[in-house]
Amino acid sequence: MILAFVEALPNPVLVIGPEQSIGAFNAAARGLFPLLASGQRLLPLVVRSPDILDAVGRVMKGGAAETVDLYERVPVERLFKVHVAPFENTGQRNVLLSFDDLTDAKRTERMRVDFIANASHELRTPLASLLGFVETLQGAAKDDPNARERFLGIMRDQGKRMARLIDDLLSLSQIERQEHVRPQTQVDFADVIRQCIDALSPVAKEVNVRLQVDIPLKMPITGDRDELIRVVENLIENALKYGADDEGADTQIEIALNEKDGQARFSVRDHGAGIAPEHLPRLTERFYRVDAGKSRAKGGTGLGLALVKHIVARHRGVLRIWSEPGQGAEFSVEIPL
Ligand SMILES: Nc1ncnc2c1ncn2[C@@H]1O[C@H](COP(=O)(O)OP(=O)(O)OP(=O)(O)O)[C@@H](O)[C@H]1O
Ligand SMILES: [Mg+2]
Repeated sequence: MILAFVEALPNPVLVIGPEQSIGAFNAAARGLFPLLASGQRLLPLVVRSPDILDAVGRVMKGGAAETVDLYERVPVERLFKVHVAPFENTGQRNVLLSFDDLTDAKRTERMRVDFIANASHELRTPLASLLGFVETLQGAAKDDPNARERFLGIMRDQGKRMARLIDDLLSLSQIERQEHVRPQTQVDFADVIRQCIDALSPVAKEVNVRLQVDIPLKMPITGDRDELIRVVENLIENALKYGADDEGADTQIEIALNEKDGQARFSVRDHGAGIAPEHLPRLTERFYRVDAGKSRAKGGTGLGLALVKHIVARHRGVLRIWSEPGQGAEFSVEIPL
């Protein structure tokens, strides 16, 4: 009876009988403690956490129910709340261990805290610079027209930077809020890309990059035009910022759109320094930058790829990133036709 009951529970559950013998456990518990599979009857060999063993000891001896933490580092970081509670079975005292997996909740919480810290930090830097220049203009540089001109220019840039950051944050939260609603309008993806290329070709010229474009005349998809523009702009902009040679040697970027297995596939391939593999999985995190100094110097907020990821998800598409250090990078987006 207890066995069947325990097996039906979704969380890891373990029943301990007298003398720390293992009475019953379910498949989820076996996943957590692999030694349970071999029919181990000695609890300390299976559950190596001293906190849990102590709690079991106390509860077995008549103590009230307790809750302890179990923090596992290998093979992956996990955090569990373990409820240790007594119950009577055929006149004997047993202890029920049930495990609540808090790993996801903890991770979400950490992301939320990090996000607030990062956003405040990104805003504080330009704000401090603005206030610094205001003070200089009120004091030392009061009667120096040249300095005034120069400082006002810097102040305008810093102000713009803050405005851009806030715009990006607002777009991000708006897109996230609508992520479950698929866009309904018809858009010509080819036209969106051509428009972005037109807008960015002066920038490409400035950094000495040729744009090799391979786009069909038309590619109608269901999507949100403004959001798709952000995706295309960001990917091409990134290729221009990080995929071009800093020395200004001439390189090229390939921009393509084609149809593949019922998907519209848009890709941007550069031949820059590329991205080391350890950074790849984190690129779409908010504020994540391989080289924050370089990104900031180019006016980046580190929110671009986070926006791209959410927009693509809203379109029920996928974002793929390929890169080899020294070989450049390819960012591609596939959206169902
Ligand atoms: N084509 C690329 N080659 C090399 N690194 C890249 C490339 N694209 C993006 N990255 C790296 O990924 C980071 C995150 O890109 P993302 O677009 O999210 O932010 P950003 O470009 O720094 O700022 P923003 O997009 O807000 O202007 C960049 O800072 C850069 O380090
Ligand atoms: Mg970017």
